[in-house]
Amino acid sequence: MKLSTFGTGYVGLVTGACLAEVGHDVVCIDIDQDRIDLLNKGEVPIWEPGLDAIVARNVAEGRLAFTTDVARAVAHAQVQFIAVGTPSDEDGSADLQYVLEVAESIARHMDGYKLIINKSTVPVGTAGKVSERIADVLAGRRIDLSYDVVSNPEFLKEGAAVGDFLKPDRIVIGTESEKARQLMRELYEPFNRNHERTIFMDVRSAELTKYAANAMLATKISFMNELANMAEILGADIEEVRKGVGADPRIGYHFIYPGCGYGGSCFPKDVQALGRTAEQIGYEAPLLKAVEKVNNRQKGVLLSKLAQHFGGTTALADKTIAVWGLAFKPNTNDMREAPSRTLIEALWQAGARVRAFDPVAMEETRRIYGERDDFQLTRDKYSALDDADALCICTEWQQFRAPDFDEMQSRLRNKVLVDGRNLYQPVRLREDGWAYYSVGRA
Ligand code: UDX
Repeated sequence: MKLSTFGTGYVGLVTGACLAEVGHDVVCIDIDQDRIDLLNKGEVPIWEPGLDAIVARNVAEGRLAFTTDVARAVAHAQVQFIAVGTPSDEDGSADLQYVLEVAESIARHMDGYKLIINKSTVPVGTAGKVSERIADVLAGRRIDLSYDVVSNPEFLKEGAAVGDFLKPDRIVIGTESEKARQLMRELYEPFNRNHERTIFMDVRSAELTKYAANAMLATKISFMNELANMAEILGADIEEVRKGVGADPRIGYHFIYPGCGYGGSCFPKDVQALGRTAEQIGYEAPLLKAVEKVNNRQKGVLLSKLAQHFGGTTALADKTIAVWGLAFKPNTNDMREAPSRTLIEALWQAGARVRAFDPVAMEETRRIYGERDDFQLTRDKYSALDDADALCICTEWQQFRAPDFDEMQSRLRNKVLVDGRNLYQPVRLREDGWAYYSVGRA
């Protein structure tokens, strides 16, 4: 099948590349010429395991092309994906500007039936708005063409995007049109050969499903973080509690890891946007507000633990703190809403210096913070410890799981370790003379 995807961010690029990988003929469009030039050479501008090979192969084999030419993308296919960003507005609601601009572009250039598939995370009712925008443009063109707008939210995780897309748990499709349903079946047929993964529903339910999934996962994390903080005060160990509750299949082991808060481009934004939707419909949603509040507080626990150790925030003014892990989670270079940023910015605020290391997010960190006297990015994890007063761990990269503690103590000024991801055994570290602080383990 032929298809076009608007937007070459995480979702758009992975969607386009993976649909080419299963045999479809794909044109991806973006307004960023540099990005498109890079992609046409088979180079991938985001750090996502496995994606570069798929892009390079499909470009070489002629199933995947990149362009900035809207007319070409619209003319290429009946099927048009919208996968552009929906950033947070000032009030936390999702900004639909880019989605609606794409709808307009499609409507300006279409000359026959189009199936428009919304893959961006958008509030309930957006498909209706996309549909209206298209109708307005077609009316302006004095032309009557048929089209369907379908909701098909994407559930991929960064760092595992290719695997998630190619082997999805489910493919949620919201449509009330039989024609759209048939086309969607054909499009996703390669993913349903072993067993049926598609769940058809109405458009508004599909739109809400995406927010419901992200908000529920974020709720699990905030719930565990709340319990972790209580466990510390109560003299319990949240890691034991985690195993004890996760064994109940109704609860499960996934997404109940306590830590220094969730980050990324989805959870913070989507929980906020769903809360905003609740306000707009006049519904009080205290649970959503609490999930966000708990997470914002949790992003501050590393600083609190450091301050507590050194005798208050003011005592951090002359300290150098080493930070391991800058990305919001392992296997990505994405720094959006990363807990490391909350910590580092608070340390600077307190007058401390920071030495930091991340296996892949160094360039991104440099892009965000630039050169600063109070900030050094080091070539490896051990160099970050040189003359530092303490080490804080923000991201659970594999290479931090079994470090050489002798090497660490020879470089650090003090054996102080604040671990936002519960990577080590508290008893062993304390026996070894470390002041070891983790999350939820008294
Ligand atoms: C998430 C959803 O998982 C995905 O389905 C959706 O499409 C987009 O949002 P992503 O943002 O890539 O994906 O990251 P995810 O792996 O879900 O982790 C989100 C955050 O939660 C990370 O900061 C992670 O460290 C944190 N987390 C996750 C925890 O703190 N504890 C956990 O138990 C799990």
